[in-house]
Amino acid sequence: MNRVSVLAKELQGCQDTVLLNDWHVTGVSEDVVPGKLVPVTLLERDLVMWRQADGSLHVWEDLCVHRGARLSKGFICEDRVVCPYHGWNYDGTSQCVLMPAAPTETPMKKARAIAHQVVERYGFIWVCLGTPSNDIPAFPEWDDPSYTKVLCGPYHFRSGYRAIENFIDTTHFPFVHAGVNGLIDNPDVIAPYEVDETEDGLSTNEVRVTQPYGDPRNVPVIAYYAYRCLRPLVAYFRKRVEISDPARAAEGNPNDRFCTFLTAQQIDETHSIVRICCAMNFSPAPTPEEVRKRQDLVYAQDSEIVDTQRPERIPVDLRYELHHRSDLLGQKYRSWLRNMGVTYGTFC
Ligand code: FES
Ligand SMILES: [Fe+2]
Repeated sequence: MNRVSVLAKELQGCQDTVLLNDWHVTGVSEDVVPGKLVPVTLLERDLVMWRQADGSLHVWEDLCVHRGARLSKGFICEDRVVCPYHGWNYDGTSQCVLMPAAPTETPMKKARAIAHQVVERYGFIWVCLGTPSNDIPAFPEWDDPSYTKVLCGPYHFRSGYRAIENFIDTTHFPFVHAGVNGLIDNPDVIAPYEVDETEDGLSTNEVRVTQPYGDPRNVPVIAYYAYRCLRPLVAYFRKRVEISDPARAAEGNPNDRFCTFLTAQQIDETHSIVRICCAMNFSPAPTPEEVRKRQDLVYAQDSEIVDTQRPERIPVDLRYELHHRSDLLGQKYRSWLRNMGVTYGTFC
């Protein structure tokens, strides 16, 4: 058992090796600036994020190895984290380089903060608490300059899995997002669609829906969603849009796309933080404020209902709830989680 597993057991946090060995978003890059200690919780583990003056980012257990005080209650001085209790100084290599009670002594080698792997990608901070079993999932539009990217959130949900299942479900649009992403008095009939499973996760072909104002340009569209479940707590869609109002059709282009990359940070089994990055190639593009305003509305409508779902932990045994063919992707998502061996935050 390595040190991370020993500590996880000791702190009675998440024991799910699928999640411990996966990458999770714990924040956005711009929130962690030099000189600031940012505490976060991931899978019941208290962590601290901080950035050196040269821009390097660190994510450590929020725990001093001396007497277990919270490092995030300390401060940063001369590019080192200073513990609030006895002032041990940890540098960017996570080594303790100064014990103020014995300033002329070289601190023992073992006096190191417990560091985790961290990568910044797509404007997000990604952390792995164990040994990464996979790469950070692809977000194809991120490197495409024809797409405007807008980070939105954080949005608070109870279950990150339930938030993802909601994200990949078109049949709630006319009810939860009435008048925005669907029509309550004329719900879309969802045609059969297919779900493929590969080593990159689950994907669908296009699912067609009507969206009276489901577009940041405030124009009625017919939308064709192609979904992907990339990791247990990361999903994505690419939406092709056609302007349905003939008077405004000239504003559209057959290549118009609106994509969303969604991540959920599971704080504990029943609390999560959703963050998304929207990418769109419309011309002219809506302003970031317009995009955020719409997403804030839609995700508030979602959490209002999703957080009422019981049990809070998503049932991954299909016998516990009812499934219709229009729920095929959600159904496959649950089975995929189960087959992958995800147990944390699930019900079975
Ligand atoms: S607990 Fe951190 S220096 Fe003592
Ligand atoms: Fe929704």
